[in-house]
Amino acid sequence: MKKVLRWIGIGLGGVVGVLVISVLVISFMGARRLNRTYEVAVDAVPIPTDAAAVARGEHLATAVSGCNDCHLKDYSGELFFDDPAIGQIYATNLTAGQGGIGAAYTDEDWVRALTHGVSPDGRILMLMPSQYFRYYSDADLGAIIAYMKTIPPVDNETLLPQFTLMGRLLFALNALGEAPAEMIDHEGERSSAPPAGATAEYGELLVTVGTCKDCHSANLAGGRPGPNEPWGPNLTPGGRLASWTEADFVAVMREGKAPDRQLSEAMPWQSYRGMTDEELQAVWLYLSGLDALAAIEP
Ligand code: HEC
Ligand code: HEC
Repeated sequence: MKKVLRWIGIGLGGVVGVLVISVLVISFMGARRLNRTYEVAVDAVPIPTDAAAVARGEHLATAVSGCNDCHLKDYSGELFFDDPAIGQIYATNLTAGQGGIGAAYTDEDWVRALTHGVSPDGRILMLMPSQYFRYYSDADLGAIIAYMKTIPPVDNETLLPQFTLMGRLLFALNALGEAPAEMIDHEGERSSAPPAGATAEYGELLVTVGTCKDCHSANLAGGRPGPNEPWGPNLTPGGRLASWTEADFVAVMREGKAPDRQLSEAMPWQSYRGMTDEELQAVWLYLSGLDALAAIEP
């Protein structure tokens, strides 16, 4: 009897040992992916300095791309993702104040971060939607960077991302999705943006650089940006928008007021309310012209 128990003990010990080793190996793989550095060839983007370009950049940064949603109104940054089991990710202080990146950043650093999702030292930027910002035209990218260079300095220390063993394990198993830098073809040419105007083509661009797909899924048929996040409903004519007028859509984007309800702030309409009439018309033209995909709402 004793002998049998001993064998069972050795067997269990073996299983536990294999499990522990697997966890360590997989989390090591996750750490390797997280620590991988990217050396990328950065496009030369002219950075204007005139007031009209800075104003254009401010509009795109605040009303379209929500830079100041994640990085805070004054761009001083804050803890953005915090899960004791997984880790912590700060949205960086983008100003030239103490603890911010603004003072040391060159024009090339701005272009690298915005179009490759990579920091000046080659580190992958977590949760920073560069896979979308890459679609901006050089002129608009230049305008955004011109504006970022004018924001007043604010002192605030924002830390580099920290992951727990579990976080590295989940990242290795792809349970946390890919980092933007991993989704980008760093060798490929950036595609050319359509001219601004009330067209479906420009609406498509606005939906991309407006990061709508982060929360409404890549095909816009509904999704969520991460586990436990609120559901972003179907935006194709397969969802509620099929019965809406353009005015209904504008009321959602400006006031968060849908025909059937008041939207929560999980939908960042308080940023999008600054979009121009022409921009909202373009987005409406694009969304209402999409194929009606079945609502996959849970
Ligand atoms: C969905 C939230 C989100 C939005 C929107 C967003 N960012 Fe970020 N950004 C982040 C996070 C989080 C980080 C930190 C990534 C890291 O340290 O791994 C970051 C990092 C950066 C960095 C790199 C800082 C460094 O460490 O070198 C720059 C530059 C930046 N953001 C600029 C912008 C600009 C400009 C916009 C708007 C065009 C913008 N961000 C929009 C979340 C966001
Ligand atoms: C940070 C996540 C997030 C982003 C980014 C986002 N949305 Fe949303 N959106 C939501 C959520 C969550 C809801 C549902 C809110 C509710 O029901 O209270 C929503 C609701 C909507 C609705 C109402 C749909 C319905 O069936 O009632 C529309 C329209 C919409 N979003 C359009 C957009 C557009 C266009 C963009 C990009 C320009 C965008 N959203 C970007 C999260 C997001």
